[in-house]
Amino acid sequence: MILVTGATGHLGKATIDFLLQKGISPDNISALARSAEKATDLQTKGINVVIGNYDDYASLSAAFNGVDKLLFISSSDITKRLAQHENVVKAAKEAGVKHVVYTSFERKNETETSPLWGLAQAHLNTEKWLKESGLTHTILRNNLYMDFIPVFIGDKVIETGAIYLPASSGKVSTALRSEMAEAIANILAASGHENKIYKLTNTEAYTYSDVASYISEATGKEIQYISPSVEEYNQTLANAGVPTEYIGVFSGFATAQAQGDLETISSDLQNLIGRKPTSLKEFLKTVYSSNN
Ligand SMILES: NC(=O)c1ccc[n+]([C@@H]2O[C@H](COP(=O)([O-])OP(=O)(O)OC[C@H]3O[C@@H](n4cnc5c(N)ncnc54)[C@H](OP(=O)(O)O)[C@@H]3O)[C@@H](O)[C@H]2O)c1
Repeated sequence: MILVTGATGHLGKATIDFLLQKGISPDNISALARSAEKATDLQTKGINVVIGNYDDYASLSAAFNGVDKLLFISSSDITKRLAQHENVVKAAKEAGVKHVVYTSFERKNETETSPLWGLAQAHLNTEKWLKESGLTHTILRNNLYMDFIPVFIGDKVIETGAIYLPASSGKVSTALRSEMAEAIANILAASGHENKIYKLTNTEAYTYSDVASYISEATGKEIQYISPSVEEYNQTLANAGVPTEYIGVFSGFATAQAQGDLETISSDLQNLIGRKPTSLKEFLKTVYSSNN
């Protein structure tokens, strides 16, 4: 039995769809959901839905009983996930789960000086707990979802003709979330991935100058890239009424990129899906060409 946590989210849902496409029977797939209402589509597909919450250890213990492979999708609740992830690892160990696949993050800087420390801490601890637990595991170092690039640059790019982010000339080897899901389904459906670390990145890395030129090409409108100081960026967003927590995430990723934290290139994703990952140029063309 494969159990997918975060099954009502983007990555979890997409992974389950790839498992079904690969011919894994829905009888062999369970989905952990916080509420039955959010999982009706999974139920319709014949997936066994179990109700559980990372905050509730007993619900996890019950859900993990009899699970062979657990896809542990990191919690989206940044403020609570350190304790939540500890619950998941402990419950998986107690239930005797045979293999845990965990969605971690790509980085170079593992210290408190990391601009992504707020996100990093839970991932680093979870990797440590998994290793110490003796559980068979696979760690996925997921780089930034490509799907987030249009979010980071904002919806006024075509109107203003400018991308404004403090990433300097730093690069990010960003990849599509759906292709990460496909890779994860391939890992879950086969053996040979035990106790491995995979970097789910693209095979090339991109600057925001690249992003500007790809959008220029897709739309025929000249887009320029401006890299302000972090202080100026944060102040500009605050003046525009952007909530502090969003400013922290946008600014953190841009600064991490400027510092080279997100630039590592790997062929792991390509090997796992059996083809070159979608390039940023192709992706931005599909997103922005309709703005022509
Ligand atoms: N690499 C990147 O660029 C990137 C970007 C964003 C996030 N992430 C990380 O990757 C994960 C998966 O991405 P995604 O796009 O699928 O995120 P998502 O769509 O926000 O899905 C998050 C999933 O986690 C579940 N969840 C949240 N808190 C929970 C709790 N207390 N107990 C049980 N389940 C809980 C959510 O359940 P509900 O449906 O009930 O809310 C949802 O199913 C995120 O959770 C986050 O840790 C990575």
